[in-house]
Amino acid sequence: MRAADIADQLTTVLVTEEQIHEKLDELARRVEVDYAGKDLLLVGVLKGAVMVMADFARALRRDVTIDWMAVSSYGAGTKSSGVVQIRKDLDTDLHGKHVLIVEDIIDSGLTLSWLLENFASRGAESIEILALLRKPEAAKVEIDSRYVGFDIPTDFVVGYGLDYNERYRNLRDVAVLAPHVYS
Ligand code: PRP
Repeated sequence: MRAADIADQLTTVLVTEEQIHEKLDELARRVEVDYAGKDLLLVGVLKGAVMVMADFARALRRDVTIDWMAVSSYGAGTKSSGVVQIRKDLDTDLHGKHVLIVEDIIDSGLTLSWLLENFASRGAESIEILALLRKPEAAKVEIDSRYVGFDIPTDFVVGYGLDYNERYRNLRDVAVLAPHVYS
């Protein structure tokens, strides 16, 4: 669905599907150059990254391998604790691999901060991050992300993989959820 289909549930469209595809094409060209002559493993972080992975991986004009990881934040009952639990681990041995983590969004940065450390301990040759969205004002830790699509404000955004209670992931655009939906 497009934002116009559920206009009553959204306030602002931040990034359209067309802008997303244009940006992913641009990032794909950069990645092709940066990883020329090297094997590349894309790691998607479930579930939000599904849409970005599907479109970014297909925008690449080269072969890659793809793997997935599912993690969830826990501890002290809040997402902001920075403690991460692996719900589904990789099937791939990272030793000697060039890894590009594919994410939908960097919010506090805590998930990626943990993942970077975890992947480094498994002996990856290089680890970089591609994130479609980033909320600079929400950062609790600085994440060095080589490929970023769009910086956005700290509003509650949904779409293109991002959810509210598992809803709206199938929205093609990224939009701010109207407060009446969640309050
Ligand atoms: C989202 C997103 C990132 C993480 C970013 O996942 O996909 O993995 O939060 O937040 P952070 O920078 O504050 O750590 P979420 O935990 O909502 O799970 P989901 O992908 O299954 O929706």
